[in-house]
Amino acid sequence: MNIDKNNQRVISTDENPEDKEFETSLRPQNLSEFVGQQKIKNNLAISIEAASKRGEPIEHVLLYGPPGLGKTTLAHIIAHEMNVPIKVTTGPVIEKSGDLAAILTNLEPGSVLFIDEIHRLSRIVEEILYSAMEDFVLDILIGKGPSAKTLRLDLPPFTIIGATTKLSKLSSPLRDRFGNVFRLDFYEEDDIQKIVERASNILNVNFIDQSSLSVAARARRTPRIANRLLKRVRDYAEVKNDGNIDQGVVDAALGLLEVDHLGLDEIDRRILLTIIQKFAGGPVGLNTIAAATGEEMDTIEDVIEPFLLQLGFINRTPRGRMITEAAKKHLESLDLN
Ligand SMILES: Nc1ncnc2c1ncn2[C@@H]1O[C@H](COP(=O)(O)OP(=O)(O)OP(=O)(O)O)[C@@H](O)[C@H]1O
Ligand SMILES: [Mg+2]
Repeated sequence: MNIDKNNQRVISTDENPEDKEFETSLRPQNLSEFVGQQKIKNNLAISIEAASKRGEPIEHVLLYGPPGLGKTTLAHIIAHEMNVPIKVTTGPVIEKSGDLAAILTNLEPGSVLFIDEIHRLSRIVEEILYSAMEDFVLDILIGKGPSAKTLRLDLPPFTIIGATTKLSKLSSPLRDRFGNVFRLDFYEEDDIQKIVERASNILNVNFIDQSSLSVAARARRTPRIANRLLKRVRDYAEVKNDGNIDQGVVDAALGLLEVDHLGLDEIDRRILLTIIQKFAGGPVGLNTIAAATGEEMDTIEDVIEPFLLQLGFINRTPRGRMITEAAKKHLESLDLN
């Protein structure tokens, strides 16, 4: 994936090293600090309380949705609220069945095992995970041919929390083994504003007017981007304005980043313009768009397109992507077309 290039975008939804620096201070630790996604929080609160009362681990949880909306954050919160240890791994790291067996047999009873990018688990590992998730046993095949035997190991009880941006890449038997399946959606703008204000308190910067709303408006309804834009605005305020943030600072700082009032940047606009100018508005296939813009297909599909779909700027049709009137109007209003 063209991650490096993409990560230079300030509005990239992918995590970058700069985000990591503030990760610990900005990441909410418990459900009450987690802004928005009310339905998910209500459901989780009940599951957590019920499981705690029974003294059992919470049922396996699958979290899916576009990058930067809080999947990893929620996984940590669940472990924290259950008061159990969390072990973190990712799909591609668990290569062999033995890797998974080693992780599972070493879990403290009741632990959470967080598997990020769970859609990237290999088939063999997935199949072992089925019985582990269902019956807390591990079936290990020993030897080969007719003399092969299966050894059954009992496992301590645990909770798998899986996260993915691509639910469709998850096999249905695996999906079915999660008792709790939650889809994280783009945030409401006032929730994003709350996230900006919460982060500004933690970072000790001050909005002296209503301009947190303008930061929120450009954050693509995504907490990770909201935090990142805030940091840019803060830097600008510290250099040019004694650290206080007002509308002028926000406009100037975000203007420098070429992020428009809907949160679109140069790459989004280039993709929209390419479909309009080279392909008469579509329909055009994703791979053709990728070739014409020099962006990776995965990046377009996972990182750029979800928000354009959400805005109603692109339609997905069986024959490819199509530009909508709303997208054309937006581009015209920017005077770029
Ligand atoms: N509901 C929320 N309230 C406050 N801050 C949030 C919320 N959700 C996410 N954040 C902030 O946004 C950042 C990104 O969230 P997180 O890393 O959990 O996203 P993710 O869904 O795991 O993304 P990816 O798909 O890239 O792994 C977090 O560090 C956290 O600071
Ligand atoms: Mg994550």
